[in-house]
Amino acid sequence: MLPNRNRTQPRAGRSWPFSGMDYSDTRRKPHVLAKILMAAILTAVCIVILKQSPGFSGKSVFSRREPGVTHVLVTGGAGYIGSHASLRLLKDSYRVTIVDNLSRGNIGAVKILQELFPEQGRLQFIYADLGDAKAVNRIFKENAFDAVMHFAAVAYVGESTLEPLRYYHNITSNTLVVLEAMAAHGVKTLIYSSTCATYGEPEKMPITEQTPQFPINPYGKAKKMSEDIILDYSKNTDMAVMILRYFNVIGSDPEGRLGEAPRPELREHGRISGACFDAALGVMSGLKVKGTDYPTADGTCVRDYIDVTDLVDAHVKALNQAQPNKIGIYNVGTGKGRSVKEFVEACKKATGVNIKVDYLSRRPGDYAEVYSDPSKINRELNWTAQFTDLQQSLSVAWRWQKAHPNGYGLRSS
Ligand SMILES: NC(=O)c1ccc[n+]([C@@H]2O[C@H](COP(=O)([O-])OP(=O)(O)OC[C@H]3O[C@@H](n4cnc5c(N)ncnc54)[C@H](O)[C@@H]3O)[C@@H](O)[C@H]2O)c1
Ligand SMILES: *[C@@H]1O[C@H](CO)[C@@H](O)[C@H](O)[C@H]1NC(C)=O
Ligand SMILES: *[C@@H]1O[C@H](CO)[C@@H](O)[C@H](O)[C@H]1NC(C)=O
Ligand SMILES: *[C@@H]1O[C@H](CO)[C@@H](O)[C@H](O)[C@H]1NC(C)=O
Repeated sequence: MLPNRNRTQPRAGRSWPFSGMDYSDTRRKPHVLAKILMAAILTAVCIVILKQSPGFSGKSVFSRREPGVTHVLVTGGAGYIGSHASLRLLKDSYRVTIVDNLSRGNIGAVKILQELFPEQGRLQFIYADLGDAKAVNRIFKENAFDAVMHFAAVAYVGESTLEPLRYYHNITSNTLVVLEAMAAHGVKTLIYSSTCATYGEPEKMPITEQTPQFPINPYGKAKKMSEDIILDYSKNTDMAVMILRYFNVIGSDPEGRLGEAPRPELREHGRISGACFDAALGVMSGLKVKGTDYPTADGTCVRDYIDVTDLVDAHVKALNQAQPNKIGIYNVGTGKGRSVKEFVEACKKATGVNIKVDYLSRRPGDYAEVYSDPSKINRELNWTAQFTDLQQSLSVAWRWQKAHPNGYGLRSS
């Protein structure tokens, strides 16, 4: 199911091809001839690997700036949003380096991208932990990045209240590591994944970029701190910064190549779309809707759902319009709130399954209504949500879920 998790991991900072290297340790002395043969084979294997291994010698395409080619470092590119963003960047002829330590992402997604873009100099995957400043620095030294899209993070509100340090480490501290490496190596464009969770519980809806940020959980606080670090640093440099505050992300690649496949153990923290699909698949016995007495039209919580295809489009537009000495902060949502009841109805239609729904009492920490005012990004980046349609977005995601009941691990027929 998770084929790469428990295998010996390749060394941090090295390109993926090294993962396959496995030396056996035999005690018995082989014959001389066998020894020579062995040495010859090993040499040949090494040459092949070195040739295929971008980023190894410092002479790979990825280490060179090329006119007309924008090389984007995508952190967390094996994850849900990062993989979709990588696909879009590759489609638009960007050069992409994915850095991920697969703690939450899927190597299966990276493999699909590699199959789609096998040409030299398009995509490389580097296994590394962003908490490892040395490894990160080496990656920046060995590669000529023009821009960074920083997706890597842990991203579950509930989990963040249980394990705050995990959040401050993997969000705030790792963002500092990335920023320091960018500073040290002169990479000047940053597109940062932030979240509406940085706003906390604003009194007024819709949320604009001017709405004061008072996050109420470690996830939102860690993201807000990262934003602050980025903003403070960028003020004294000529960096180009775009901070995108996403609302609730749903959907997947309309062509069915990628999907959302969180680790099964994260189900309990999961998001509503995952819960709906689990119920439709029969993995869970039903769907629990928590809270029916909120001051909303139908009593359930209202959220602003945005399709991942629209979201990555916002990233590309942000990248293309990023300018030195400029900071752009944008909400990315549709501006329309949809209730949990509406969501469940759309999910039933999308899956064709009459999901059993249990209505329970409120869960602490949820607020009634959250939706964005996306007029700034519309005005300044000419971005609008074009693919987001609750039922349509869920249908697309459901198609992938049904075809991949085990995520990227095993494909059904
Ligand atoms: N999914 C949403 O609804 C949503 C909403 C708002 C903001 N965001 C933000 O979008 C970004 C991507 O979220 P996602 O939903 O794709 O999550 P995800 O868990 O699918 O992807 C995150 C990726 O980062 C990698 N990662 C985590 N820690 C790492 C580390 N220390 N070193 C290297 N790699 C590491 C994981 O392996 C994973 O592949 C996050 O920054 C998240 O906060 C997501
Ligand atoms: C990813 O990085 C974390 C440190 O932030 C580490 O604890 C974890 O073991 C790594 N995951 C994998 C799969 O190597
Ligand atoms: C995040 O940081 C903690 C250290 O606080 C580490 O143990 C963990 O493995 C890291 N990575 C993830 C994905 O949680
Ligand atoms: C804005 O986007 C629309 C639709 O995506 C496009 O047709 C139009 O040409 C764009 N306008 C500008 C000024 O780029």
